[in-house]
Amino acid sequence: MVTDIRSSYSSPAGREFTMLAGRCAAINPASRVLDLGSGYGDGACNLAREFRCKVTAIDQSEENIQSAQQLAQEKGVSHLITWEIRDIMQADFSQAEPFELALAEGGTFSFISRVRGLALVHQWLIPRGWLSFSDLIFYTEKVPPEVKTIFEDDRYHYESEQSYRALVHDAGFEVYCMTMVPPSGWDNYYAHMARRLEDEKGVFADKRIKLAFHKEIDVFYRLEGFRYVGYLFCLARKRE
Ligand SMILES: C[S@@+](CC[C@H](N)C(=O)[O-])C[C@H]1O[C@@H](n2cnc3c(N)ncnc32)[C@H](O)[C@@H]1O
Repeated sequence: MVTDIRSSYSSPAGREFTMLAGRCAAINPASRVLDLGSGYGDGACNLAREFRCKVTAIDQSEENIQSAQQLAQEKGVSHLITWEIRDIMQADFSQAEPFELALAEGGTFSFISRVRGLALVHQWLIPRGWLSFSDLIFYTEKVPPEVKTIFEDDRYHYESEQSYRALVHDAGFEVYCMTMVPPSGWDNYYAHMARRLEDEKGVFADKRIKLAFHKEIDVFYRLEGFRYVGYLFCLARKRE
């Protein structure tokens, strides 16, 4: 069931998960938050609006950062957010004041390498700082090929909950909360994607992108891809 028709998160883990991270991390107006792969800006804007914290948000897509800046203006939080058009792998915050919370929502670690991404975040957080991320996982190794090929290719390979838990631990974090995003999260996400497929400009105007998303939505619902792929949410804390 679609529970948030206005969501423009580009992943099934939406506003509730960002809010959970902000509340557990006790984010407040003195806090500094880092949003890695900020997309259309929902995560950064929701945090800034709710907690009045300072957010640094990075995304390599200029188009996405422009949409995010517009959203921040509409929500009256643009003075609280610094937007950077940058590849996370080229970013270096080791000389900056460390962050209390880092967000890597919507599979950012799968885009940049999980081990490297976790190590960077560990370095940029304060002692006992918080990490909140969400990412696609497979529930089982026995995924039918028609489902597997939609989500995995030569470049992207996914973890299981167990293997992700091990990566988080090995990177120096303790897991506070690890859970699967409920079906409504997927419905909100695909409702957003279905709206974007009407775009006549930008990434979603591309016929190949339209076709790929139509196929993914079809495989997820009609071929019951939801039995094999899930969206993992993790809230973790730096051990020291
Ligand atoms: C699936 S979207 C998730 C966006 C947002 N966090 C959300 O949950 O709605 C992934 C975002 O990561 C960005 N991204 C991917 N690789 C990146 C990289 N190496 N450096 C910076 N941004 C990156 C993409 O441009 C895209 O906006």
